[in-house]
Amino acid sequence: MTTTPLRASAADPATLDVEETWSRDHLESVQLDRLQATLAHAYAQVPLYRRKFDEAGVHPEDLRELADLAKFPFTTKEDLRSTYPFGMFAVPQERVARIHASSGTTGQPTVVGYTAGDLDRWASLVARSLRASGVKAGWKVHNAYGYGLFTGGLGAHAGAERLGCTVIPISGGQTERQVQLIRDFEPDAILATPTYLLTILDTMAAAGIDPSSTSLRTGVLGAEPWTEGMRQELEGRAGFDACDIYGLSEVMGPGVAGECVESKDGSHIWEDHFRPEIIDPFTEQVQGDGQAGELVFTSLTKEALPIIRYRTHDLTRLQPGTARPGMRRMERITGRSDDMVIVRGVNLFPTQVEELTLRIPALSPHFQLELTRPEGQRMDQLTIKVEPREGVTAADAAAAAVELRHQVKTHIGSTCAVTVVEQGSLVRSSGKLRRIYDLRPRG
Ligand code: DLL
Repeated sequence: MTTTPLRASAADPATLDVEETWSRDHLESVQLDRLQATLAHAYAQVPLYRRKFDEAGVHPEDLRELADLAKFPFTTKEDLRSTYPFGMFAVPQERVARIHASSGTTGQPTVVGYTAGDLDRWASLVARSLRASGVKAGWKVHNAYGYGLFTGGLGAHAGAERLGCTVIPISGGQTERQVQLIRDFEPDAILATPTYLLTILDTMAAAGIDPSSTSLRTGVLGAEPWTEGMRQELEGRAGFDACDIYGLSEVMGPGVAGECVESKDGSHIWEDHFRPEIIDPFTEQVQGDGQAGELVFTSLTKEALPIIRYRTHDLTRLQPGTARPGMRRMERITGRSDDMVIVRGVNLFPTQVEELTLRIPALSPHFQLELTRPEGQRMDQLTIKVEPREGVTAADAAAAAVELRHQVKTHIGSTCAVTVVEQGSLVRSSGKLRRIYDLRPRG
C-alpha cells in the first residue's frame, strides 16, 4: 500500500480538548492564575526556590501580570544536580507516583518526579499531541521510544493508551525484530526518534521490503533535532505523514508541544500547562515573539516538580498559533546551545549540515561531525563524514563532497573537510543519535 503523505483538513472542533479552542485572552488569564499558584507552591515547598527567590528579592505575590515572570530567577540543570536526587520535589515522597531521570552522560543524572495527578495530565497532553499529529483512537501504535528512566517510552505509551490506541511497547533497539513486528502486527502509527526511524527504514530496505508498502500511516517523531529535509526524506520513503513532538524530562517529558498534521508548521506549545519564554542566552533578556533565542519554560500545573523558568538550552523562536490559534508555536529547534560547534570562530549546528546534505542527491542522511586539532596546528579542523546513497559512483561521491564543502562555506561560513565514507560504516541510531565527535586533545 503506497500512501501519499496528506495534508489533512482542519481538526474537527468536536474532537479537540476544550483548552485547544480557548482564545488567547482566556488562555492568558488562566496562565496568570496557574502561574501564581505554581510560584506559591514552589516557594512554600522547595527550599532551593525559596532561597533563590529571596536572593533575587522577589516573592510569589510580586507576579501580578504575566510579564512579571521576568523578575523571577531562572532554574538550570545545575539546580537539579545540586539537589540530587529529590531535593526539588515539592510533595512528600508518598505522593510521588513515578520517578524518571535523564541519562546523565555529562554528569550526575537529573531526577524528576510525578504525582498521580501529574501522570494523568502528562498522559492527556501526549494524547493531545498524538491526536494533533493525526493518530486516531483504535489505531495500533508501535512505540519505539526507549522504555525505562527515559521519559520517551512510558510517556508516549500512556498518551497512546489515553487516546484509545492499541499500544505495542517495543522500545528501542533490535531493529530486525521491529521490522518483523511492523509486518506482522500492521501498526498504523510509529513513535520513534527521527534517526531511529531512519534506521528502521534502512533495515526494511535491506530486507527487500519497500518501506512505503507497510501499514504505517503516521510517524510522531521527536527527542532530537531534525529538519524539514529529514521530514521530506522520511515521508518520501515511508509514504506517510511525519510530525514533530517535543518535550524534556525536566518540564514533563514528551508532549510539552506537538505538531498538527493539517499544518505541519512546527509544534504548538500546550500553553494551558506551560508558559514559554524566549531569552537571549547571553544577556538573559526576554525576547519578543519571532525573535530567535533560548527556550525557557515554567510549568503551570505540575505538583511534584514545579519548574520555574527552566533554561532548556534549545534554540528556537515563538510564532503565533495557526491550527490552534490560542497557543503559540515553536519553530523547529535549530539545536541545543551545547551542541553548537565553534570552528574558527564560526558557529555551526548539526541541523544545518543535515539540511545541506539532504539537498545533494548523491548524499544520504547518515553523517557525523568530527572535530580534531591536527598535530602541530593551532586551528581546529571540522570533518563531515557522510555516506553516499546506494549506487552512487566514486566520481559522483567525490563531486558531492566538493559540493557539500562549498555549501557549508557559503551558507554557514565554516571551512570544513568532507569525507564520503563507505555505506553502512557510520554508527546507526537506536534512539537519540550522537552527531558530534569531539576528538580534540583535552586541556
Ligand atoms: O527527549 C522527551 C521526548 C521523548 C520528547 C520523546 C519527544 C519524544 P529528554 O531526554 O529530557 O526528553 O531530552 C530533552 O531533547 O531539551 C531537546 O534538546 C531535545 N528534543 C526533544 N524533543 C525534540 C524535538 C525527551 N521534537 C531534549 N526537536 C530537549 C528537537 C528535541 N529537539
